[in-house]
Amino acid sequence: MITGTTRLAGVIGDPVRHSLSPVIHNAAFIEAGLDWVFLALPVASGQASAAVEAMRSLRIEGLSVTMPHKADVAAAVDDLTPEAKALGVCNCLFWRRHSSGRDQIVGHSTDGDGFVWDFERRFGCSLAGLDVLVVGAGGAARSIVEALGRAQAASIGVSNRTPDRARSVAALAQQAEVVTNDRAAVEAADVVVNTTPVGMRGGPDPDGVPVPVEALRPGQRVVDIVYDPRQTPLLQAATSAGAETADGVGMLVGQAALAFELWTGRSAPIEAMANAVAT
Ligand code: ATR
Repeated sequence: MITGTTRLAGVIGDPVRHSLSPVIHNAAFIEAGLDWVFLALPVASGQASAAVEAMRSLRIEGLSVTMPHKADVAAAVDDLTPEAKALGVCNCLFWRRHSSGRDQIVGHSTDGDGFVWDFERRFGCSLAGLDVLVVGAGGAARSIVEALGRAQAASIGVSNRTPDRARSVAALAQQAEVVTNDRAAVEAADVVVNTTPVGMRGGPDPDGVPVPVEALRPGQRVVDIVYDPRQTPLLQAATSAGAETADGVGMLVGQAALAFELWTGRSAPIEAMANAVAT
């Protein structure tokens, strides 16, 4: 029941009504027995700093941030974590007590660590020492490459149809370099990650596979961050080739779990969060 003691968290974006975050977070609050509620909050482009001030004045306990506000909120918060500073974007705002005794709004990025967290949980193996190929060079690729660098991947190849963008992504991790996702590069990778919208329902190329299919092989782990459909053409091809796969819902749950922990100070009820979006 919602009462006077219920606390509010939410996601800001435009559009935001399609977001799965309310389903994931409300399931988590119920499972954890917390008197919290999570709402999708439409915030128009250009209104990110007003939304940060609303978080302050309304004492919203935590905000997730999605398009088009990820860069604008980074400029509007009181402080940034090192990850958010490196990326120049935030997907999660939380409160932190400053040494002065005042509460500050801190911007963080949980996308990359959400990816690493889900990978290691799902495959039961560390990313440390693995050769990873990341396809695409947008915001998702940036946060994944930055986190792979901290997770001690042995090498990170970044491949993009616009090589200039790949260069700026590769600059986020010492062990990263720009590569072409040709047959040799894909075959050599222990882990292949798609961060492009290729294969996404309603996207630019819903039937496409972003790497040469013949290069996929047993012993490889293939991750698609596209989560609609869950089984993208890439994941279907990877399964047929004998590779292990992880779908995009995992990273979504991973970043939400890390946000939950920052907001509430409790460990996230991961199973309940994953079940909330299991179809
Ligand atoms: P996000 O921030 O969600 O990661 P984005 O910034 O739009 O998304 O980035 C999408 C990535 O997918 C980009 O690397 C884009 O390539 P460009 O940098 O050349 O634009 C890539 N991408 C989009 N459509 C693609 C397609 N049809 N084939 C290959 N790559 C594509």
